[in-house]
Amino acid sequence: MPVGSQSSSLRLAFFGVLSCSIVLAASMLAAQPSGEGEYDEYRDLFEILPSVPPIPADNSMTPEKIVLGNKLFFEPRISASGIISCATCHNPALGWTDRISLAVGHAGQVGERNTPTVLNSGFFEAQFWDGRAATLEEQALGPIEADIEMAMPLREALDRIRGFDIYQDLFEAAFPDEDGDPITEENVARSLAAFQRTLNTPNAPLDRWLAGDEAAMTEQQKRGMRSFVERGCLSCHSGPALTDSMFHQIQVPGSTDEGRYLVTGEEWDRHAFKTPTLRNVALTYPYFNNGSVYELSHAIEIMAEEMLGLELEEDEVADLEAFMHALTGDMPDVRIPSLP
Ligand code: HEC
Ligand code: HEC
Repeated sequence: MPVGSQSSSLRLAFFGVLSCSIVLAASMLAAQPSGEGEYDEYRDLFEILPSVPPIPADNSMTPEKIVLGNKLFFEPRISASGIISCATCHNPALGWTDRISLAVGHAGQVGERNTPTVLNSGFFEAQFWDGRAATLEEQALGPIEADIEMAMPLREALDRIRGFDIYQDLFEAAFPDEDGDPITEENVARSLAAFQRTLNTPNAPLDRWLAGDEAAMTEQQKRGMRSFVERGCLSCHSGPALTDSMFHQIQVPGSTDEGRYLVTGEEWDRHAFKTPTLRNVALTYPYFNNGSVYELSHAIEIMAEEMLGLELEEDEVADLEAFMHALTGDMPDVRIPSLP
């Protein structure tokens, strides 16, 4: 067969396929105006955020414990100055973080790291940027004692709490089976952890889309979701909270922090940080372990460059940013407690 006719028959075949797919696409569009189906393959790659994280066997979530944890979270008198509570830095009005680059704690001291949100923290399998605590229970007492946070020896913090009759009652109600004084370090940690496990943000546009509501995400957000997968962001930002709770080496602008290396002393952990959650990331600026970047689009560009060696076009960055906005869920309905 002469080459010319082969190519023309090929062209014909190509045309056939093309017109066929135009007809198909047109009929799909007619039946499903939002282009439904196009992104279906991505449904299996993401997880709907459950409204409650895994609960450890030795710290059940009772209403009494949660009420106590709620009070302690807002209690400034467990700090040396009497004016700093967990909520000072993890402020409910600011996405449960502080919207400043580096945390400011006791006596105005500036810390070395950015305050992460505690929203959905029950889903993290490691706590802190360097993972030095494994669980919320292990994490909870650190900030009370840390010189640059609340600067309060735990024994004194417990004595202050004991000074209020109402705390005596609340601890007894939360830990009814214990002999002796229930106001212990361990129980402070348990109740703070139980309270924090209620701070979840289900029902984000992504979750609603995953559950089948095609209109929950805009076309741009869906395109952003596709690049998030195709570009490889999902390899680290995975699971219900969009973090693998693992540590990855990166040097974000201005950071000299050695990260996980300070915990393990292993060379491969130098400048490695925990993958932060991307849930509610539109609310939790500034970004990175040192809070050096305020704009989400800029944070996305840095990630693509540093982690994936990619220079993304502006349009794609905008799509990814739109997708990040689809990760903002319903804020927990927490009352600011009235304290004794
Ligand atoms: C002075 C500000 C400040 C105060 C007060 C404070 N935190 Fe934090 N919190 C931070 C900073 C900064 C980090 C990150 C530190 C690090 O990674 O080394 C952090 C990390 C955390 C994390 C880990 C989150 C994650 O993504 O890894 C949790 C949970 C947490 N804090 C809960 C609390 C609780 C509970 C209290 C009160 C007992 C508290 N914080 C008091 C600033 C503060
Ligand atoms: C190799 C693992 C990995 C990959 C791939 C990755 N990230 Fe990250 N991401 C991280 C780590 C680790 C950090 C924290 C870095 C730091 O603060 O030092 C981070 C931080 C972020 C932040 C800032 C969040 C905050 O609260 O500070 C955003 C936004 C982000 N990543 C989005 C993306 C996007 C979009 C992609 C794909 C283009 C991506 N990431 C790819 C691991 C990864």
